[in-house]
Amino acid sequence: MIDLIRKLTEAWGPSGYEHQVRELIRAEVKPFADKIEVDPLGSLLCRVGKGGKGKKTIMIAAHMDEIGIMATFQEPKSGYLRFSAIGGLLYTTLHGSRVRFEDGTIGVVAAPEPFGAARTTAPDLDSFFVDVSDGGDTSRVKAGSPAGFWRPFEQRGTRLIAKSMDDRIGCAIAIEAMRRLNGKTPHEVCFAFTVQEEVGLRGARPAAHGIDPDVAVSLDVTQTGDEVKGERHDVRLGGGAAIKIMDTGHVVPPHIRDWMIGAAEAADIPYQREILTLGTTDSAGIQVARSGVPSGCISIPCRFVHTTSETVDSRDVEACVQLLVKLLSEPLSFS
Ligand code: CO
Ligand code: ZN
Repeated sequence: MIDLIRKLTEAWGPSGYEHQVRELIRAEVKPFADKIEVDPLGSLLCRVGKGGKGKKTIMIAAHMDEIGIMATFQEPKSGYLRFSAIGGLLYTTLHGSRVRFEDGTIGVVAAPEPFGAARTTAPDLDSFFVDVSDGGDTSRVKAGSPAGFWRPFEQRGTRLIAKSMDDRIGCAIAIEAMRRLNGKTPHEVCFAFTVQEEVGLRGARPAAHGIDPDVAVSLDVTQTGDEVKGERHDVRLGGGAAIKIMDTGHVVPPHIRDWMIGAAEAADIPYQREILTLGTTDSAGIQVARSGVPSGCISIPCRFVHTTSETVDSRDVEACVQLLVKLLSEPLSFS
C-alpha cells in the first residue's frame, strides 16, 4: 500500500484539475469495480456489488483534489507570477516553498524583503509571487495556470509524510478497501473519488445527487491534538481510526455513529472519537443531498494539515481500511 500512497500523494491535482489523479485511480480500481464512470463535474464513480430490491446503496467518498494556487498576473519586468489561493492556504508556509505546474515546471514562492517584517509574520497573499524563470525565454507558465505544492513522499518508521495526504490517503484507503472486498458485499457500494472538496465540497454534493445513496461515509484527514498546546483536541496520531462525532459542518446521526463504533469494537479495530472544531468534509455536503442522506466519516489522524508535510501513521491507515471493509462486508445495523 505504501507504493500506492506514494504515487497518489505525488500526483498533481489542485481543485478543478483532478484529471491526472483520476486517471491514476481509474487504473488502480479497474480490476475491482463492476462499473466505472465520470460524472459531469469530474468525480470518478466506481460501483461494486449488485443493486436490487431491498439492497441499500452506500456511498463512500474521498476527494482527489489538493490545495494549490492559480497564477493571476505576470509582472512585465521580472516575469514573476502573482497568484491567488485554491483552497485554504496557510500563508505562513509559503516562503521558499515550491509549486508544480501542469507541465511539470517547478516554481519557487517568495515575497519581497523577507528579512524585514515578513521574517516573523506572514504578509498578505498579494505580496507573494512565484519565480518560474528558467534563465532563457521558454517558460510556458502564464496567468491562468494552476499549480499544486511540491514535496516528495517520505517515510519515517510508521510515519508517512507527504504534501497531499489530504485527501489522497482517503483515496488510498478506498482503493485498498475495494481490493480487499473483491466484490464481496451485501450492498451496492459506490466509491466516489470526488473533485473540488477544498474549495467548498463542490464535487461531492452533485455526486451524491446522482448516486442517490441510502447511507454515506466520507474518508478524510482530521487534525490531531497531540502537538504542543493541542491538548483540547482528543485525536492522536497512532490512536486508530477516528470516527467522526461532529465537525463544523456535520453532526453525525447517532445511529450512524453507533454503526461505526459497533463495527470497530466487534472487530477489535483501534478507534477514537473525533470532534473537529474547525473544518469539515465531503459528508457535510452529501448529508444534505436530495431529501437527506444519513452520513458518517472515517477520519485519518493527520499532523500539519494543509502544509506540504502532512503526516499520518500507517497503523491508523490500516485501522481505517479494516473499519471500512468491516462496514461494507455486513448488513447495516439499522434499517
Ligand atoms: Co483539506
Ligand atoms: Zn480533505
